[in-house]
Amino acid sequence: MIHTKILGTGSYVPNNIVTNQDLEKLVDTNDEWIQSRTGIVNRRVTQGENTSDLAYKAAVKALEDARITAQDIDLIVVATVTGDFPFPAVAQLLQGRLGCNIITAFDVNAACTGFIYALNVADKMIQSGAYHKALVVGAETLTKYTDFEDRNTCVLFADAAGAMVLGTSDEPHIEKILTYAKGDLEGLLSMEGYPLKVDFKTPDQKRPFIKMQGTEVFKFATTVLPEVVETLLKETNHSVDELSLIVAHQANRRIIDKSARVLKIPIEKMFMNIDQYGNTSAASVPLAIDEAIRTKRLKRGDLFITAAFGGGLTWGGAMIRY
Ligand code: UT7
Repeated sequence: MIHTKILGTGSYVPNNIVTNQDLEKLVDTNDEWIQSRTGIVNRRVTQGENTSDLAYKAAVKALEDARITAQDIDLIVVATVTGDFPFPAVAQLLQGRLGCNIITAFDVNAACTGFIYALNVADKMIQSGAYHKALVVGAETLTKYTDFEDRNTCVLFADAAGAMVLGTSDEPHIEKILTYAKGDLEGLLSMEGYPLKVDFKTPDQKRPFIKMQGTEVFKFATTVLPEVVETLLKETNHSVDELSLIVAHQANRRIIDKSARVLKIPIEKMFMNIDQYGNTSAASVPLAIDEAIRTKRLKRGDLFITAAFGGGLTWGGAMIRY
């Protein structure tokens, strides 16, 4: 049987740091509220770089880390809800810019769970034997869809990209991936698109922004995050003690704290970098995994769970031996 393995990771964040104090000047908020309710201190906001630019910079680092070239890749899957254009997809822009061969390249949309979905798709395509080396990316410029007059959302969202190169292995490294959707809850976290025109003279509407019913999404997140961790442990016959780390989607420090309490997992095992980057949707998980590897919180051979939840509503997770 063909198994999938992480060959390398990389990430990129824009240089521009936006502090809580900067946001105090835009909306009725304050550093104390933001830090105590979310854990966020700073976030990165792109200036001039679009999603494919962030994705490209993360991908170059992941290829270097994997010690392979862009021509070795035969599959690109990008998770994003903030692509440069409705089409072409970020994956196709990336394929062209990296100078890859003529290969399969497409985007997936599962909001903040997007990277777990992309990983699932790439993992299964490699396991089929049809593909051998995949570049899987989570990249977002959420701030272009953030209403900086809405204090409920503008303090949360930010821009980043993370990338992972997958290859084949005789041993099971990606042991299990679970992905779920519950579309009847779509209204809790969404961004409207443009409506169908009644006729060609219908005037253009105001640009849409991300909308969220935060408290409801919080309840959902603190239910599904512990659930998916427990299911992964059960279905792979591992115990919590075997895990080196849990790398959860960075949406709110309190969601991670509460999940740790429910799961009875020491908080030290829950990776957190939300303080510096905020909520970067599909980029959050690969950015966090890359940072965990760079800071030696994750070493070769370590077992970890990554899990996410978000718009859709969607959620999912993976049990991985790095
Ligand atoms: O990545 C996708 C998944 N997304 C999430 O997981 C987000 C989940 N939700 C959350 O993280 C939290 O619900 C939020 C951080 C969004 C909000 O925290 P909360 O503790 O649920 O606050 P709340 O919405 O219940 O609001 C409490 C109060 C309200 O004021 P009143 O009505 O009590 O007077 C809000 O208007 O806090 C107010 N508030 C703010 N105050 C200062 C909301 N946003 C702000 C703000 N600064 N930025």
